Amino acid sequence: MWKMLTVAMCVALLGCLQAQELQGHVSIILLGATGDLAKKYLWQGLFQLYLDEAGRGHSFSFHGAALTAPKQGQELMAKALESLSCPKDMEPSHCAEHKDQFLQLSRYHQLKTAEDYQALNKDIEAQLQPAGLREAGRIFYFSVPPFAYADIARNINSSCRPGPGAWLRVVLEKPFGHDHLSAQQLATELRSFFQEEEMYRVDHYLGKQAVAQILPFRDQNRKALDGLWNRHHVERVEIIMKETVDAEGRTSFYEEYGVIRDVLQNHLTEILTLVAMELPHSVSSVEAVLRHKLRLFQALRGLQRASAVVGQYQAYSEQVRRELQKLDSFHSLTPTFAGVLVHVDNLRWEGVPFILMSGKALDERVGYARILFKNQACCVQSEKHWAAAQSQCLPRQLVFYIGHGDLGSPAVLVSRNLFRPSLPSSWKEVEGPPGLRLFGSPLSSYYAYSPVQERDAYSILLSHIYHGRKDSFITTENLLASWGFWTPLLESLAHTAPRLYPGGAENGHLLDFEFSSGQLFFSQQQPEQLVPGPGSASMPSDFQVLRAKYRESPLVSAWSEELISKLATDIEATAVQAVRHFGQFHLALSGGSSPVALFQQLATAHYGFPWAHTHLWLVDERCVPLSDPESNFQGLQAHLLQHVRVPYLNIHPMPVHLQQRLCAEEDHGAQLYAREISTLVANSSFDLVLLGMGTDGHTASLFPQSPTGLDGEQLVVLTTSPSQPHRRMSLSLPLINRAKKVAVLVMGRMKREITMLVSRVGHDPKKWPISGVLPHSGQLVWYMDYDAFLG
Ligand code: BG6
Repeated sequence: MWKMLTVAMCVALLGCLQAQELQGHVSIILLGATGDLAKKYLWQGLFQLYLDEAGRGHSFSFHGAALTAPKQGQELMAKALESLSCPKDMEPSHCAEHKDQFLQLSRYHQLKTAEDYQALNKDIEAQLQPAGLREAGRIFYFSVPPFAYADIARNINSSCRPGPGAWLRVVLEKPFGHDHLSAQQLATELRSFFQEEEMYRVDHYLGKQAVAQILPFRDQNRKALDGLWNRHHVERVEIIMKETVDAEGRTSFYEEYGVIRDVLQNHLTEILTLVAMELPHSVSSVEAVLRHKLRLFQALRGLQRASAVVGQYQAYSEQVRRELQKLDSFHSLTPTFAGVLVHVDNLRWEGVPFILMSGKALDERVGYARILFKNQACCVQSEKHWAAAQSQCLPRQLVFYIGHGDLGSPAVLVSRNLFRPSLPSSWKEVEGPPGLRLFGSPLSSYYAYSPVQERDAYSILLSHIYHGRKDSFITTENLLASWGFWTPLLESLAHTAPRLYPGGAENGHLLDFEFSSGQLFFSQQQPEQLVPGPGSASMPSDFQVLRAKYRESPLVSAWSEELISKLATDIEATAVQAVRHFGQFHLALSGGSSPVALFQQLATAHYGFPWAHTHLWLVDERCVPLSDPESNFQGLQAHLLQHVRVPYLNIHPMPVHLQQRLCAEEDHGAQLYAREISTLVANSSFDLVLLGMGTDGHTASLFPQSPTGLDGEQLVVLTTSPSQPHRRMSLSLPLINRAKKVAVLVMGRMKREITMLVSRVGHDPKKWPISGVLPHSGQLVWYMDYDAFLG
């Protein structure tokens, strides 16, 4: 067999090489040669590579491989090769000739055992000898599920490496792990077999022509974009990939991954980095691009649960039950739709929303990265005189249009009132069908460019692999940075029920979402049917804010949203009053999850709040660096401080991190904070202290069975928590009780038991620290939502 192949190779070579000198032989081994991806894209991409490169110095052989037995595998591969096509402008006779040569150079191998790999190696070597060919290199394309990676990698490493002087390139297809940890494990495993420079991790979106054009476009239009590409001019960036197909037939894959892992973590994140990274001096320097990408990852603000909305098309769970033989009662939580709000915390992009969105079973198939610019102009002439190229009052946008949609081809669109872009000669100006409108404007209002020759992403990437160009592939560092960014969100969404949507045009506006102060939410309420069961007739609207007493003090109770709004209003009223009387307002805030909604409410809905005269103090802090996501200060920063204008000097984080160590007694951090309070807060009496109540009855960082901070002279203490991180700094009970007002916020069903218990206990701070809260001459008010109060 290999003799025939060698002869075919020589014939093909003579045909193609003509007078050129032969530089060596390249063997391309496609693992998973009969699979979907191979059939749809890879064989065609390899054929295109052959058409482009044969006769330019290298000879080729193509080896399809799979686990299937030789005869059957050969047949399946032959089927996959039947549909190869040539470029439109190639003459049919030429096409047939090339196809024939390609088929003669291609053969099937069963690759199952270590011996099979040894045999493949022998085959490749045997092809080279009679023709006297020097080996240039080998490309192994892994178009197989990731569980097969390690085995294949081991076999290639032990028996299929080319001899000295020839290169090895292994091409890997996603998924590259499931989260940060699994990606790291897979990367470590692969690194034990291959060098980083031997690995080409494919993200096929990097081969899409409009995506590949982002950096060159930014580079070629530096002059025009320099002043515009920043927070002062960009209103928002949308990175979108909508699909009409659903996951039927691939639920075994999809059920494990979902849309965030399948599309956002890779394709959309890569586009985000290309749009938002600082532009290196030379965009063709692979190292510089990678360095700038990694810097961008460092600037991404951590995602919270509230940064995303998720949905699932209605038929999905049924498809999973059918395809994975699940019980009738099974309901999947896997999202098939996600919208995520990303912020880049650097000087260029501070405050600019980047919206990433993708979904299956939507109303259209389209992908794009759209940069919408702010409109800061005021046009005096009437609208009928606004000309596309001149009026600053028309929308200004720049779109990297990946494909499909109404335009049907990749494009770069630049509003005519922005600037006339410069593109390489491989892109031509297009007009599109008359009457076509894109992103709210007629196509004629854009400078619109499309590639002269449209090319499939895989054929472009295969050509880059062949030429050893690493710039369109994902390095290990890049991959781990991306997983590092997405994993916390994935974890926080793990038990979230996605919003169900019917699919296609019927989705209507059900998936529309909005964003404000770092949060995303669906614009429409989920249409749900509430069926009142026995004893559960009460609906949210049946209750107004309820006023009562709890432990002899006033209690305000309501559904959580109303409760938060009431508390925020009360705090604002207290602040306004304090500023009117004393010129300043001293507010001490607790950390944890309950106050997050309050912070967000204060940040978004209280424009009359006297922030400029407010001093913010911490009730307690974990002994972690203030930049740590676990720190209470970080929560305050993320949900409140960054949205309001509090003078820097009025912000008083707890000094838990002094001399590069955390809460060391000898650094006297607690005493320092106490001194700061005594100096700035009259009588050390805060205007308002916001507390919470733990399920064990703790408040601030004062824990049961730990006497520290419950009485005595100390205003601020170091304490020990039963849960991690154990070391804490906290205001003491005597200091809290000097406040003019103390508000205790208790939310959620989990607090129901402790709420009942504490309602009955007397003054016993050692057992229930919360029971010791009773301001000497101030007021205590309890704010409890119905879940905590009524269960
Ligand atoms: C793949 C995803 O990476 O990209 C698929 O796994 C998705 O779920 C596909 O359908 C979309 O790619 P394209 O090239 O069709 O836009």
